[in-house]
Amino acid sequence: MHSTNFDFSGSVVIVTGGANGIGRAICQGFARAGANVLCVDVNMAAGTELAAADNSPGTIVFHTGDVGKSSDCRAAVEDAVARWGGLDVICNNAGIQPKESYLPAHELPEEMWDRILDVNLKSTYLMSHYGIPHLKARGGGAIINTASVQGMASAHKVSAYAASKGGLISLTRQLALDYGEDKIRVLGVAPGTIDTGMPHAYEPLSAEEHAKRRAEWGAVHPLHRIGQPEEIAQVVLFLASDSASFMTGETVCVDGGLMAKGAWA
Ligand SMILES: NC(=O)c1ccc[n+]([C@@H]2O[C@H](COP(=O)([O-])OP(=O)(O)OC[C@H]3O[C@@H](n4cnc5c(N)ncnc54)[C@H](O)[C@@H]3O)[C@@H](O)[C@H]2O)c1
Repeated sequence: MHSTNFDFSGSVVIVTGGANGIGRAICQGFARAGANVLCVDVNMAAGTELAAADNSPGTIVFHTGDVGKSSDCRAAVEDAVARWGGLDVICNNAGIQPKESYLPAHELPEEMWDRILDVNLKSTYLMSHYGIPHLKARGGGAIINTASVQGMASAHKVSAYAASKGGLISLTRQLALDYGEDKIRVLGVAPGTIDTGMPHAYEPLSAEEHAKRRAEWGAVHPLHRIGQPEEIAQVVLFLASDSASFMTGETVCVDGGLMAKGAWA
């Protein structure tokens, strides 16, 4: 477990897609640093288990919600504010990249495009739309978005995912510009391959095959391994903290050096 040097005692934090993977580590990181965390996720079993297992100095409360839906985003913000009297940090982390979406654009069903864009990109607009008035009421705050290296460089057959993450990086810059004078900092992280359910969900693998796949993916990264969810969470906490007080509009690669590689490397 990573130690934390950050103090978020009394802060109110919403983490979307917080029940598993990177979001789970973000919830746990903020709670260890003393925050009241609302974990918003569609996975009720995992979210309930996360909240029940928490014994950190802060709090993790689970809220069932689909961030692709406007009414669910509004309800999540209202729940956090009703529980804890305000809102300080929004982590827009929920994201999907379904196996069935790995298709060239002319074969990708329109409904699949819409769903990926709704969950990965529109959700950040929705959470900002409902959440920013509460950040303003506190005199400032932070919005931290989980993008991807796939928003910065291209891979095959991921048009909707790549567009959603590229859009998220652009939206991060835009919100930073519009809300700087309100002391709301808006930042992103762009993970490389991280050891969560997401990259492994595409096919059933034995433990041996799983380890082999992790090693293959790791070999592509200059640090010769894939990352752990806590290694993203630590950067998210840093970006949300006063230690990053002069940062906004930036999306930081947390990718074991992947984006440092040229095509010739
Ligand atoms: N794992 C990686 O290699 C990797 C790399 C780059 C970027 N990312 C990004 O990191 C973020 C987290 O990914 P992860 O690897 O932890 O994935 P994950 O699948 O392990 O966890 C994602 C969580 O989001 C939840 N979720 C999905 N749709 C939702 C919705 N509509 N509303 C609310 N919650 C929803 C899921 O239930 C799950 O708990 C995503 O935005 C993903 O695109 C992941």
